[in-house]
Amino acid sequence: MHHRWLLLVACLWVLFMLMVASKFITLRMRDPEGYGIIHQGSLTNLPDTEKIAVTEIKKLQIDSQPTAKPMKDVSHTGHIHKERLELLKNMCQNGTLLNLTHSAISKFVLDRIFVSDNHKILFCQTPKVGNTQWKKVLMVVNGAFPSIEEIPENVVHDHEKNGLPRLSSFSAQDIQERLNSYFKFLIVRDPFERLISAFKDKFVHNPRFEPWYKHDIAPIIIRKYRKNRKESRGGLQFEDFIRYLGDPNHRFLDLQFGDHIIHWVTYVELCAPCEINFNVIGHHETLEEDAPYILREAGIDRLVSYPTIPPGITSYNKSKVEYYFSRVTKRDIKRLYERFKVDFKLFGYKEPSFLF
Ligand SMILES: *[C@@H]1O[C@H](CO)[C@@H](O)[C@H](O)[C@H]1NC(C)=O
Ligand SMILES: *[C@@H]1O[C@H](CO)[C@@H](O)[C@H](O)[C@H]1NC(C)=O
Ligand SMILES: *[C@@H]1O[C@H](CO)[C@@H](O)[C@H](O)[C@H]1NC(C)=O
Repeated sequence: MHHRWLLLVACLWVLFMLMVASKFITLRMRDPEGYGIIHQGSLTNLPDTEKIAVTEIKKLQIDSQPTAKPMKDVSHTGHIHKERLELLKNMCQNGTLLNLTHSAISKFVLDRIFVSDNHKILFCQTPKVGNTQWKKVLMVVNGAFPSIEEIPENVVHDHEKNGLPRLSSFSAQDIQERLNSYFKFLIVRDPFERLISAFKDKFVHNPRFEPWYKHDIAPIIIRKYRKNRKESRGGLQFEDFIRYLGDPNHRFLDLQFGDHIIHWVTYVELCAPCEINFNVIGHHETLEEDAPYILREAGIDRLVSYPTIPPGITSYNKSKVEYYFSRVTKRDIKRLYERFKVDFKLFGYKEPSFLF
């Protein structure tokens, strides 16, 4: 009799403990903040007021939660970037494509690289690929300006005032140390679209009031490369420009033009991507994903955001490329491609065979 009572009490006790435990477990599951993890995807079902509340919590938790993006996206982006670096490495070893002598990195390249010592970052400038915005980002993290909005437009490219030293301004040993240990990145885009952008920006619109492009450089190219001397259209035409760029002896004029050629020489000439071990290669075409990725990898995503990207401006526009090249002869396009092939191959851009 006594034993039966004891057994019953024991059973009730176990039952009670189970109920308490299950209650506790469901409570924890309904309270994800308890674990400090909130995925953006889980916000979509909540009413708006709760969304705001959860967003507030997320802001507070920013330290324990390094990324607000769903993990899936991050690893996908990481995978793409790993593939880009592997392609670059493989292509750099292709002797048919490139004749690497592994000489010292030239002063021309060191002039293209901007330094943030505060955050140990090197950025190689590739004009016509949204570089102004990246310079602003670095000026802010260098502490020269409190925010991107407060940087006057005329200061960005003024290297006396923008607080962005060039790598070439350091001693040989300091250059080597920075190349070895800093986070290094560059941004590329489709090579032919970049040339169209350079042509428009320097020889058609010239919004930055740099008269030497139209007044000094254009006449020299026209004199040497215009086929039809009776051509009535004034100013440099795209086909003149392409004939200059595709000429195997382009260096003769390059030397006369000095550093202005940065707007149209190859990425290989600008940034020596086979000699410098870049950590990230951003693509203009995927800047929406690449910009936050770069900030994260550089460890500055909590300090600054990349400025809002206007919709549609980064995507590749095939009809624009067809339009600009429609008056260029097939022979000149092929010569141009021969010169820029290395940029297409190293960075995974498809050969524009629709032009040949
Ligand atoms: C090296 O480059 C050449 C020229 O583009 C190409 O034909 C060849 O397939 C490449 N080789 C490898 C191993 O990628
Ligand atoms: C590589 O260099 C050698 C010798 O300097 C030269 O003969 C050859 O044409 C070069 N190849 C390319 C693809 O530039
Ligand atoms: C592509 O370029 C053409 C010609 O410049 C332009 O008319 C068109 O709007 C562009 N398309 C997009 C999607 O930006």
